[in-house]
Amino acid sequence: MSFLFDEKEKVFLINTEKTSYAMALVDDVNLHHVYYGKKIQSTNLRYLLREDVYPFIPSTAKRETNGYIESATFEYPQTGMGDYRDSAFCVRSMDGYRASELVYAGYNVMAGKPKLEGLPATWGEKCETLQIYLEDKLLGLKVTLNYSVFDGNDAIIRSVFVENQGKEPVYLEKVLSSCVEMFNKDFEMMTLPGSWARERHIQKMPVGYGRQNAASFRGKSSPQEHPFMALVTPGTNQTQGEVYAMNFVYSGNFIAQVERNEFDFVRMTMGIHPEGFCWKLEPGDTFTAPEVVNVYSATGLETMTRTFHHLYREHLIRSPYLHKERPILINNWEATYFDFDEKKLIDIAKEASKLGIEMLVMDDGWFGKRNNDDCSLGDWQVNEEKLKGGLPYLVEEVKKLGMKFGIWFEPEMICPDSDLFRAHPDWAIQIPGRDIIQSRAQYVLDLTRQEVVDAVYDMIDQVLKSADISYVKWDMNRFLTNLGSAALPADRQGEIYHRFMLGVYQLQERLITDYPDLLLENCSSGGGRFDPGMLYYSPQIWCSDDTDAIERLAIQEGTALIYPLSTMGAHVSVCPNHAIGRTTPFETRGNVALAGTFGYELDITKLSDEEKELVKEQTKQYHKYHRLVADGEYYRLASYQENNAYDCFMVVNSDQSKALVFYVQVLSHAQVKSRFVPLRGLDEAKTYSVNGVTYTGDVLNNVGLRIDIEWGDFQSKIFEIEALS
Ligand code: GLA
Repeated sequence: MSFLFDEKEKVFLINTEKTSYAMALVDDVNLHHVYYGKKIQSTNLRYLLREDVYPFIPSTAKRETNGYIESATFEYPQTGMGDYRDSAFCVRSMDGYRASELVYAGYNVMAGKPKLEGLPATWGEKCETLQIYLEDKLLGLKVTLNYSVFDGNDAIIRSVFVENQGKEPVYLEKVLSSCVEMFNKDFEMMTLPGSWARERHIQKMPVGYGRQNAASFRGKSSPQEHPFMALVTPGTNQTQGEVYAMNFVYSGNFIAQVERNEFDFVRMTMGIHPEGFCWKLEPGDTFTAPEVVNVYSATGLETMTRTFHHLYREHLIRSPYLHKERPILINNWEATYFDFDEKKLIDIAKEASKLGIEMLVMDDGWFGKRNNDDCSLGDWQVNEEKLKGGLPYLVEEVKKLGMKFGIWFEPEMICPDSDLFRAHPDWAIQIPGRDIIQSRAQYVLDLTRQEVVDAVYDMIDQVLKSADISYVKWDMNRFLTNLGSAALPADRQGEIYHRFMLGVYQLQERLITDYPDLLLENCSSGGGRFDPGMLYYSPQIWCSDDTDAIERLAIQEGTALIYPLSTMGAHVSVCPNHAIGRTTPFETRGNVALAGTFGYELDITKLSDEEKELVKEQTKQYHKYHRLVADGEYYRLASYQENNAYDCFMVVNSDQSKALVFYVQVLSHAQVKSRFVPLRGLDEAKTYSVNGVTYTGDVLNNVGLRIDIEWGDFQSKIFEIEALS
């Protein structure tokens, strides 16, 4: 990695191992984006500004300032002074004017990264940051653009600080975190839209003129849209094509947008969604915009995926569990829903412990008077009528079986029918005089208030102190509405969305600090808040409430496009599947779940003897394969979404001595007896054994592995590959 400022050319050049990013100054005042792409060494890049061609002639020409402002490629574009593309920054002064002129004011190169107060962020040594300072002299604003690069990783991580050095407060209406401009390129936009139980399906569409975006202002990153966007050149596949990707290290509202203008310039931006956002910045205060991870690949999607996987494994996830074997868990949600007591849970644990399962997770319904989803969120006290002997008894019984114990919470919520709401009706987010919109009979707690954060934390803390609890599933089952806080003044109500997220982050930070050995799994109506922000606190996130093995193929493919397999919560459940009613073989359900953090979500006491034997095999397989799945390099070989027939991917360890190929045949077709799938990532000079048969690496990579198709739909196989020489 290196940062260079060429004084003569007035060009900044950021170099990672394989990519370069360049900016140039015009008139020593305006900062322009000039290049992002394959690595270059030269700073001879001013020609890209076309300063001699109308309308790009800069402001010194005076006569036509507007033409220049509306067409040049700004590094951090702003509202109000003639750039009509979507901006990255918008500020309103106390007297109501909505404009800024951010001019260049210097730079700094620092070892490491500046701290992003209260926010999740990548971390680690062997990192350098370029800070570029911009200022608006009239308002007294200082804006710092941060660009961080870790040694050995091609991502460029951007965040923004805004400091009010003036005498008056200002209102920040938009502070995006990243903006990249490109010239004359045809692109397709890749995003990961979905819905509840159908999260992160890969979607590609051409980029036309005007604006296209992926966005959420639901108060969380959401299952509907995902804080990820990649622009890819047409024909891009796993190994070919150019890719410009952005992923937001944040779990609240976001916008990821592409805009193509009349000059065929393409502006790509990402940051906190401006909808509902207005932050009052007092003199002396600083606002921090969360970071965006920017990745460029000249060699297709696989390189992009690898850059994200390595960055997140090495520089984002902090949990010690990242490198530890996660206990195989059994969760009682799909087994019992709300209908359980301590006897039922102990029965499940007894059977599970015999089959190699290592942890019982008690899901929703253990607290207050919650026997359905109409009440009690916020009353985090054990329902001792349901669980006789309370938590200490239950946990001890489970531990006697040699198992660990985990528990479910939904800390951000409050039910109208709860003791907490009866005591503190103003603790729900609400607008006075309007009914609070209910969702699953619940409201959202006002976590912008420190006393609410403290009260919720104390309740969780009491429960965790009362017994030996190894795992917490942290759920979040609705969106935010009625944006109003009883504790904020009128001109700060626009801060609720972001302050709410800061409250959530504070809670999770306290939890993992006070309980460093706790395994935290985030969840949000399935995978509705699966984002890099959450991975900073929990090494795994429940991927989806849809546990059907075939539906999971698309969900897990979309998720693994960015996130390591070790982060994907994946369980075996019963058939017909509770989300969609499909029946698939037990083996296939196991093979699909083995590609994530493995577990079960079923009433194990009701399985047949044959199924129980399979559970024994699967739990053994998990221990055998887990490190390879968690740490291995991921190669997407075929996608059922694209070929409508089968799904295939592989993982390979770092010295290419071990690999696993996961294959799922979706529907059976007459006369399709076998197929040859070329592998990737094996050492072509090595000889390998594949499920006991010998091949050379060059043949497996270039000719392919023969996969015989089994009789019947939804069949699957795992191939174990081991180097012999
Ligand atoms: C959400 C989760 C489920 C389960 C229920 C409990 O939907 O995604 O796994 O925990 O809540 O109410």
